[in-house]
Amino acid sequence: DMGGHDTYMHKEIHEQADAVDRALRGRIDDRFSTVHLGGLNLDARDARAVRRVKILGCGTSYHAGQIGAQMIEELARIPSDAEPASEFRYRNPVVDPDTLYIAVSQSGETYDVLAAVQELKRKGARVLGLVNVVGSAIARETDGGIYVHAGPEVCVVSTKCFTNMVVSFGLLALHLGRIRDLSVADGKRIIEGLRKLPAQISEILANEAEIEKLAGEYADAKSMMFIGRVRGYPVAREASLKLKEVSYIHAEAYPASELKHGPLALIEPAMPTVAIVPDDELLEKNRAALEEIKARSGRILAVAHQVQEKADHTIVVPKNEDELDPILMGIPLQLLAYYTAKAMGRDIDKPRNLAKSVTVE
Ligand code: M6R
Repeated sequence: DMGGHDTYMHKEIHEQADAVDRALRGRIDDRFSTVHLGGLNLDARDARAVRRVKILGCGTSYHAGQIGAQMIEELARIPSDAEPASEFRYRNPVVDPDTLYIAVSQSGETYDVLAAVQELKRKGARVLGLVNVVGSAIARETDGGIYVHAGPEVCVVSTKCFTNMVVSFGLLALHLGRIRDLSVADGKRIIEGLRKLPAQISEILANEAEIEKLAGEYADAKSMMFIGRVRGYPVAREASLKLKEVSYIHAEAYPASELKHGPLALIEPAMPTVAIVPDDELLEKNRAALEEIKARSGRILAVAHQVQEKADHTIVVPKNEDELDPILMGIPLQLLAYYTAKAMGRDIDKPRNLAKSVTVE
C-alpha cells in the first residue's frame, strides 16, 4: 500500500522523520548524556578495549558505514574506517582481536556481507550488526548489534534505511564516546542535535516543490559530478549512487580537494556539479572549489546551510551539530534523484538490472 504516493521511493523518503524518531525512541539517557543500546552486547570494559573499528557493507550501506566511521572517530576517538564487505573478504585481511567489526545491512541477507561476517567469526573476531530486518541472517550471526528501525523498505533503492543507519551510527558513536573521552557537555550537545533531526527532516521535505523544479533544470545532463569534503564526501557518494540507480544518468563522486588532481578536466557546462557545502571548518575550502568550477563555466547546485554565491542554485538545509550534518544533507538529493527519474519516465521502484537484496556473490 503506497498510501497516496506514486512510488515506494517517494513514500519511503517521506517516512524519514518518523523513522528517525523510532530509532531514537527509548534510547536516550539524559542523566548520563548517553544512549542505551539494548542488543549491543558490549560492556563498558569491552568498549574501552576496542583499538580500531572496521565497518563492512555494500552499496548504500557501505556509504552509511563511511559516515559512521567518521562519527565514531570524531566522537569516540577510535581509529575507524569502512570498506566494501566483498573486497575485504578477498584481500585476506589481518583480523585483529582488538578491532570491533560492524556489518551494515538493510536486508541482513546480502551474501557478501554475510560471508565476511562468517569469515570474521571463524577467525575469532567480535562482530556487531547494524541491520534493519529483524531476525535476518546477519542479525543472527553477529554477536550483538543495533536494529536501525527504519521499518519495511520496499523500493530497491534505499533511502530511509540509509538515514536510519547513519542515525544509528550517531547513537553508537555517542555511546562509545561517553564510555571513553567525550565530555558530558558534548554528549548533551549531540543528544540535542539528535532530537532536532525529525523536525529538520520535515522542514527539508516541505521544500519538495523547489527540488522538483531543480530536477527539471539538471535532467538534461549526460553526466554529473558530486563533490564534498570529509563529512560531506560520503554524502556526495551516496547522492551519486542514488542518481545513477534511478535515473541512469552517469554520475561520479570525488572529494572536492581531488578535483585539481584530474577530474577538473571534465568540467564544462554539460557536466553540472552537485556540491555538499556544510557550514563547518571546511566552508572556505569548499567555496574555493566552487570558484574553480565556476571559472571553467561549470553549473553548480549546492546543498548548503546558506546560499552560495558561486552556485547557480542552492538548496538550503537546516544546520545541526557539525558531526550530525551528514544525516540531513543527503535528503534533498534523494528527492533530486527521484524527480529526475520521474521526469525521465524511469521505473523508479525497480530500476533495471538491480535487485532489492543481493543474496548471490
Ligand atoms: O540489504 P543491504 O543493505 O545489505 O544491501 C546493500 C546494497 O545492495 C544496497 O544498499 C544497494 O546498493 C541499494 N540498491 C542502494 O540503493
